[in-house]
Amino acid sequence: MQQIDTEAIETCGIPRLLLMEHAGLAVANAAASLSAAPAVLVCCGTGYNGGDGLCAARHLSNRGYAPRVVLAGRLDHLRDEPMIYANIVRRLGIPLAECTSPADLELVERWVASSALIIDALLGIGVRGTVREPVASLIDRLNASGKPIVAADIPSGLDADTGLPLGCAVKATVTVTFGLPKRGCVDAQGPAHVGTLIVDPITIPRTLLERS
Ligand SMILES: NC(=O)c1ccc[n+]([C@@H]2O[C@H](COP(=O)([O-])OP(=O)(O)OC[C@H]3O[C@@H](n4cnc5c(N)ncnc54)[C@H](OP(=O)(O)O)[C@@H]3O)[C@@H](O)[C@H]2O)c1
Repeated sequence: MQQIDTEAIETCGIPRLLLMEHAGLAVANAAASLSAAPAVLVCCGTGYNGGDGLCAARHLSNRGYAPRVVLAGRLDHLRDEPMIYANIVRRLGIPLAECTSPADLELVERWVASSALIIDALLGIGVRGTVREPVASLIDRLNASGKPIVAADIPSGLDADTGLPLGCAVKATVTVTFGLPKRGCVDAQGPAHVGTLIVDPITIPRTLLERS
């Protein structure tokens, strides 16, 4: 999928922002179909997976939801496209809290407890090695919450190739995966973490998807 993403962007000229917009919309659609309650917590990492979550927060806000965003890292670590969505989120008045240390987990716990649904956009297919703090603690809190969880692309911490948790992994209710299903969604412990799997092409050209 990483090769396909690169080809869609570099060979076909499809801007990354456009793919992220469709990814975020697909995640927001899945969340809205699971819960009509306004309080949604969107947990984002600092990579492009987090950008998908920030984009989903914007769409949920437009639909009358009251999303709150936790960023597992610092805002100034975001790359171009996720930063665009972070700025939109802040200008829309959506609460956004950075979680950079164990001390920040107290607020996250309160937000988790008062949310009807959680979006997991902490880590996607770019995760490398054992999940580090504070993301590992966030994953533990999400799994312990008993709330429905919609994962963007792949449950955070699940290895997209092997289907094995990298120390820990989110147990999602629904996973909206982008382009094609990853091997890790269907192999090993994948199915136990993915929940219901939705595949959304996020406008990646059909020729690229069918060739793989
Ligand atoms: N073309 C596109 O733009 C496109 C298309 C489809 C989907 N997507 C989305 O983009 C995702 C891939 O984005 P990405 O390549 O930026 O990767 P990512 O999955 O967002 O992961 C990268 C982020 O996770 C952190 N990280 C990596 N390993 C970690 C670990 N073991 N513990 C804690 N944090 C860790 C990295 O921090 P450090 O840098 O500090 O290590 C970085 O912030 C996909 O899964 C999908 O959601 C993008």
